[in-house]
Amino acid sequence: MAEKKRILSGIQPSGAMTLGNYVGALRNWVELQKTDEYECFYMLADMHTITVRQEAKVLRKNALDLLALFIAAGIDPEKSPVFFQSHVPQHAQLSWVLNCNTYMGELSRMTQFKDKCSKHADNINAGLFTYPVLMAADILLYQADLVPVGQDQKQHLELTRDIAKRFNNAYSETFKIPEPYIPKVGARIMSLQEPTQKMSKSDVNENGYILMLDPVDTIVKKIKRAVTDSGAEVCRGEGKEGIENLMSIYSAVTGSSMDEIEREFDGKGYGDFKAAVAEAVVAAIEPIQKKYAELTANRDYLESVYRRGAELAERVAYKTVAKVYRKVGFIQP
Ligand code: TRP
Repeated sequence: MAEKKRILSGIQPSGAMTLGNYVGALRNWVELQKTDEYECFYMLADMHTITVRQEAKVLRKNALDLLALFIAAGIDPEKSPVFFQSHVPQHAQLSWVLNCNTYMGELSRMTQFKDKCSKHADNINAGLFTYPVLMAADILLYQADLVPVGQDQKQHLELTRDIAKRFNNAYSETFKIPEPYIPKVGARIMSLQEPTQKMSKSDVNENGYILMLDPVDTIVKKIKRAVTDSGAEVCRGEGKEGIENLMSIYSAVTGSSMDEIEREFDGKGYGDFKAAVAEAVVAAIEPIQKKYAELTANRDYLESVYRRGAELAERVAYKTVAKVYRKVGFIQP
């Protein structure tokens, strides 16, 4: 039997998760794991998070909360290692060697770096600059074949490939060259208030986003307040971005296609449609919230998950670093 392809992906524990993050990332991870086609490694990228100043107490809470949410959403830690980046020292170790094989010019061209410099002008630290190198280390450590990433991380994956090829050329074949994995159903969920913008928790208007842990009545309210248009038909089209976004959300949580949704709501008004969207979203989120509440009350279990995850991850990561250290000429300790 051919070996399973390996997948590595990461999410930062930088605060509350939106419905958009769930549909765009976490839910795909659950699906990928279910297929049994891949060997998956799921990482909480806490080292990336401190490139923006964090309060220690808050980071600790966010990190454990995100782990609980992973499992509540259906990630099975028995099947795939789930771990904190900071628990596996090889991420920092490989990152240094890769830093010495990455050019300033390459990093200066990263659009996310430029964005973050304008957003965090008071804290343009070196970690923000070398962030993509740490991400390359995350991926290359596990010799990942595929990396599920959103549009905003594609450039970083491209750079990872360049660094890997450069290292392989200089020191002989060492790293697998990873490919981006674009999920088959990849709904991009937009803001409920400005449907031309991506749904984001940094939106100043909190009615623009739905959080996975928003109380159910808040979710219903936010959907009822979503921006639509002066028309009356539930369909796609020019100037119908608001309705189309609600259709995407409905599609994402029910599995119905856009065509089916147009047929289902033919002749019905926006009020009925919004009520149906709210009901479907709540039906998808509520069981996750219940599971989440149980898990956060069980700190021992969460601890056993991340300890075991780090152990399994380190077994793979260790080999890569040993190889790399040998190839670059470090004396074996
Ligand atoms: N930088 C990614 C983000 O903010 C998170 C991340 C860190 C990641 N390391 C990774 C994603 C490795 C995929 C693979 O979304």
